[in-house]
Amino acid sequence: NRPKLGPSPFSVPADLPKLPEVPGTDPTRCVLDSFRIAIAKSVADALELTIEQVYQGVDYGKKGEDFTVALPRFRLPGKVDDLAKKVIEKFQPDDWVESVTHDRAFLHFKCRTATLNRLILDQIHALTYDTESKQPEYGANSIGEGKRVVIEYSSPNIAKSFHVGHLRSTIIGAFLANLYKACGWDVLSLNYLGDWGTQFGLIAVGFEKYGSQEALEKNAIQHLLEIYVKVNADAEKDPSVREQAAAWFKRMEDGDEEALRNWRVWRELSIKKYEEEYARLNVHFDEYTGESMVGAQTMETAVKKLHEMGLIEEDNGALRVNLEKYKLGKAVVRKRDGTSIYLTRDIGAAIERHEKYKFDKMIYVVAAQQDLHLQQFFKVLSLMGYDWADKLEHVNYGLVLGMSTRKGTVVFLDQIIREAASVMHEQMRKNEEKYKAIEDPEKVALEIGITGIKIQDMAAKRINNYTFNWERMLSFEGDTGPYLQYAHVRLSSIERKNPELLPLPAPSKLNLDSLVEPQAREIVFLLGSYPDVVKTALKTHEPSGIVTFAFRLSHAISSAWETVIVKGEQDKEKAKARMALYLAARDVLGAALRLLSIKPLERM
Ligand code: ARG
Repeated sequence: NRPKLGPSPFSVPADLPKLPEVPGTDPTRCVLDSFRIAIAKSVADALELTIEQVYQGVDYGKKGEDFTVALPRFRLPGKVDDLAKKVIEKFQPDDWVESVTHDRAFLHFKCRTATLNRLILDQIHALTYDTESKQPEYGANSIGEGKRVVIEYSSPNIAKSFHVGHLRSTIIGAFLANLYKACGWDVLSLNYLGDWGTQFGLIAVGFEKYGSQEALEKNAIQHLLEIYVKVNADAEKDPSVREQAAAWFKRMEDGDEEALRNWRVWRELSIKKYEEEYARLNVHFDEYTGESMVGAQTMETAVKKLHEMGLIEEDNGALRVNLEKYKLGKAVVRKRDGTSIYLTRDIGAAIERHEKYKFDKMIYVVAAQQDLHLQQFFKVLSLMGYDWADKLEHVNYGLVLGMSTRKGTVVFLDQIIREAASVMHEQMRKNEEKYKAIEDPEKVALEIGITGIKIQDMAAKRINNYTFNWERMLSFEGDTGPYLQYAHVRLSSIERKNPELLPLPAPSKLNLDSLVEPQAREIVFLLGSYPDVVKTALKTHEPSGIVTFAFRLSHAISSAWETVIVKGEQDKEKAKARMALYLAARDVLGAALRLLSIKPLERM
């Protein structure tokens, strides 16, 4: 089902000086690779190193410099100063690299601007996103070709509240699924619902008293939570309620069809409702699974195996694994009444998923509050001798503080979505003039509102806690989601505002030599770096790298508007070159937003 990354329609033009191939690089998808190879070649030739050796040491330079090579990393005999001079003496400017300077142990290289302009804009154009085929676009690579990753995220609990922790898992997980796809992996996304456990016994008891079929069909998520809250209050007063609930859940665990009938409906209807809300967030799952789906037999066998291995101890009828040797405490794997538990279900689920999907990697996007839980079940699996246990990875994240709507605490996902849309709507109304020009303000408010939430969530390192702030995240000023959408809309308006320049020829057919302003160059270079930004994100699993890139690009664009003008530029060739630059910027900003699961807007 995965769109395969075929050969790139872009190739390095033959009129440029030939460069050797370097393993792990792909100039047809990231043309800055070629510039790095050219730099590596000039250093390697001067210092008698291999190009591969030097290539690893060609890094992005600080502001104002394109690439930097730190000489000490090669551990060559002699003074670095002399080595640097040797490189500089031998250096021949060409169409790839125009100059080199040195600052103690560092060599700074400057790429040929005309070549940068031509190749980067052309590559972006050749790899533009196609809404029809949804083919991988500029920024994509084939690192994961032939490998499969299972990504589990969101995973809310049916009949309990959808809290901000679930929202973060949803946002980060959707990003990771997009990211792995962009890197050529075969991605399977799973939503592992909390759809099993004693709370369903409680709800069954509560449903008799408080349940309504009509309310259930209208909004299952809401109705089930209402029942859950009420029956919990009953149980506080009357201990027999809990006993009834436990007995009911035991029947469910034993597979008693009658006890399972209602539960099945609750699950179905909840999933239906969730699917609608995920769709609004531009989030999709290949499969809805859940704690209920883990086979009793698998868990049984697992516990037996742990027993045989001498890892289990009994505690008052309950069974637990002793992981103290690994500083992971003791973890119960089976309750006294024989019913299963969260940890055991995770162990069983992992075993079954490995059987079923034969994954090369499986990622769990779960709050850092559950660090211990994940470490425990990863450890149990590895103690059980499963060599694939090291393919499991926990992508964790910090807390969100202070999220509430103006009506009070948030318990449902749709409350968050609605609040975002309504706060955004008010924000937009403040500008009467602009507001009137918007075609479908409700829809725009919803999209920008969601963008605000997502950007706030992904702007910093995952592990950081942050405080939810509607005003700040939905402002058009500062580094916010609305600011990024605004930047994209402004770029999108260029074609509408300059129809006389259309249809614009491909960048390869334009004379781009007029793009000489430092502002233009900065944009081009940033655009060229995007494929690297994607690769880094794959290593770190940090959406913040993409968000930071989107802000840097938007800032660079907004500094260019004044000087690098399109409308009003008398020289039509120049105006066209500039337009090509802005359209490339629009496409790359759009790609970055899509990677973050955000729908870039064309108008607002
Ligand atoms: N449903 C759980 C909760 O809300 C999260 C599930 C995380 N995934 C897992 N495989 N344990 O806390």
